[in-house]
Amino acid sequence: METHGKYGGVVPELASREHLRAIVPVVRNALEIACARWNDLAAVAVTEGPGLVGSLLVGITYAKSICLARNLPLIGVNHVEGHIHAVILESSANPIELPAVALVVSGGHTHLFEVREGFSYRLLGKTRDDAAGEAYDKVAKLLGFGYPGGPIIDKLAPHGNPRAVKFTLANMKGNKLDFSFSGLKTAVLRWTEERDLTREIEARRMLQNPSIADWLRVTPKTTLDLLASFQRTVIEELMRRAASSAEEIGAKSLIVSGGVASNAGLRAAAQSANFACPVYFPTPGLSTDNAAMIAAAAFVKLRRGAFADLTLRAQANLTLA
Ligand code: KG4
Ligand code: ZN
Repeated sequence: METHGKYGGVVPELASREHLRAIVPVVRNALEIACARWNDLAAVAVTEGPGLVGSLLVGITYAKSICLARNLPLIGVNHVEGHIHAVILESSANPIELPAVALVVSGGHTHLFEVREGFSYRLLGKTRDDAAGEAYDKVAKLLGFGYPGGPIIDKLAPHGNPRAVKFTLANMKGNKLDFSFSGLKTAVLRWTEERDLTREIEARRMLQNPSIADWLRVTPKTTLDLLASFQRTVIEELMRRAASSAEEIGAKSLIVSGGVASNAGLRAAAQSANFACPVYFPTPGLSTDNAAMIAAAAFVKLRRGAFADLTLRAQANLTLA
């Protein structure tokens, strides 16, 4: 966050350089914390895609090298499947009933999948433009809040009136389970252009390591109302399509995962909504990108003996289902 924050988003070249710098000490540290040695490992799992190709290449090259040197099997994992398994991992005591609907909401994804027995997936709907997390990040950037925008807007939204600004919900032609967030982003841009916010935006940009109290000091009520209304609209869009998907496939569970799943407003809305099936979220620490979810998805493949060979390559646009 420190590296990318000042540019208002992830810079691919910096991301792969940071991966290169961090990967060896991070893996060493993880082994130490787990009190494990290389000989204790059954396999090495690595993300093969989707994602930034430079970062994927660093992980894949390192994973292959360990496998070659230690004579371990290699397992390739889809990043999105990892997000779904973050939830399954935590419910091992009370397994989640399938079929399930999985709503994966992150900076790069807003996808609805049917999860069937044996972990096969069918795409039910996806965003046609921006991902929900991307909309959070763009709105935050536009208004002078830092990067990533999601956690900041999430913390400020309870200080505003969620009904103050009326945004129209996206009405999708064709697949009714698809999402669109670009209209909402444009509506926020128009709202901003109709007012002179230069001074408050500048005041926010000047803040160094701000606390919530600092943000509140330089953010008038009207802007807090906008943030609250924006968040309410995003949550409504996500919830209503998740509910329709669950109904359509007769889901026995709803899984919500990805960075945006750590949103407190979304969690509260999902718990109080009258879903016909139980709703599962990962603990916030496992909602955003992490390695445990990749290991969890790989575990199923390990049991099946679904190993990759050293021809495994990075696939920036890898799809699930
Ligand atoms: O899953 P993730 O860590 O990385 C991707 O695979 O994209 O998700 C990051 C995204 C960012 O867009 C960030 O703004 C958003 O998740 N995010 C949130 C919250 N925490 C992270 N969005 C809304 N509310 C949050 N609390
Ligand atoms: Zn992710």
